[in-house]
Amino acid sequence: MKYDFETIMDRSGKDALAVDAIGAGVDWAVVPTKPKNGFSAIPMWVADMNFATVPSIPKAVIKRAEHPAYGYYLATDEYFDSIIRWQKERNGVSGLAKENIGYENGVLGCVSTAIQAFSAPGEKILLHSPTYIGFSLVLKNTGRVAELSPLKKDKNGVWRMDYEDMDRRIKKNNIHLVILCSPHNPCGRVWERDELKKAMEIFRDNQCIVVSDEIWSDILLNGNKHIPTQSVSDDAKKRTIAVYAPSKTFNLAGLIGSYHIIYDKYLRDRMNRQSDMTHYNSMNVLSMHALIGAYKDEGYQWVNELCQVLS
Ligand SMILES: Cc1ncc(COP(=O)(O)O)c(C=O)c1O
Repeated sequence: MKYDFETIMDRSGKDALAVDAIGAGVDWAVVPTKPKNGFSAIPMWVADMNFATVPSIPKAVIKRAEHPAYGYYLATDEYFDSIIRWQKERNGVSGLAKENIGYENGVLGCVSTAIQAFSAPGEKILLHSPTYIGFSLVLKNTGRVAELSPLKKDKNGVWRMDYEDMDRRIKKNNIHLVILCSPHNPCGRVWERDELKKAMEIFRDNQCIVVSDEIWSDILLNGNKHIPTQSVSDDAKKRTIAVYAPSKTFNLAGLIGSYHIIYDKYLRDRMNRQSDMTHYNSMNVLSMHALIGAYKDEGYQWVNELCQVLS
């Protein structure tokens, strides 16, 4: 191993929600209370890591921070090229261009924008259950209703989609927007190509736009391979808003910096128009440099080692 995944990092007092919020009386249902006397807390209630990130990230951020001006700026070609290379080398994506990539203020920010762009308040949106709590909150906050299609364990204990159930629920409720989580949180399934293909055929036949949350696509255990939803067919490429981020992969959630990949111009224009309306969807210059630092050669090796350690 080139990188250190063994040193225990003390994050207390270092802007770490995972540690500092425990027992702090924060008014959210999901925050644990303080452990009993004599016990210490294991901060596994929120999805960020206690591993120090790859050194090429602080290096890139510090280098930029040393330049003493932080004015308005344009996302650089290096930013877009870093994403294009990452997607090509990690996910086998070819033909991705700068115009297909758009900054997103968090993956849930993108999900929220898509919900507002492609559904009306009170409308139903298809998701699988069990469901990541962030999706439930975004739906609640935007006044939409989750139509849940339960994942089912097969005889080998593997979680599977129930295609008939998905189709039935979509038809019954006139659903035209789906949130797909790939790999799936919380079930941990890395969907196989055929599974995604089948799901996307149902979405095509029912004229559904798909938001594919692929935030977990870099963290793959036991040699699993991520299949981008957009790669399963030409139709899937056109009807899918895919969302990625280096935040889970590299422990960068505090810097905020996700991105969408949208090939279809109509979907892209609707998404951009919706997010422009708030003027909130703007990148932070240090976050841009963090992504560039993450997607350097060191980052590729660090993630390989991370997946090995987690496996
Ligand atoms: C599936 C999934 N999507 C999105 C998020 C949150 O992403 P962001 O912080 O970029 O909104 C999480 C965080 O745990 C997640 O598990």
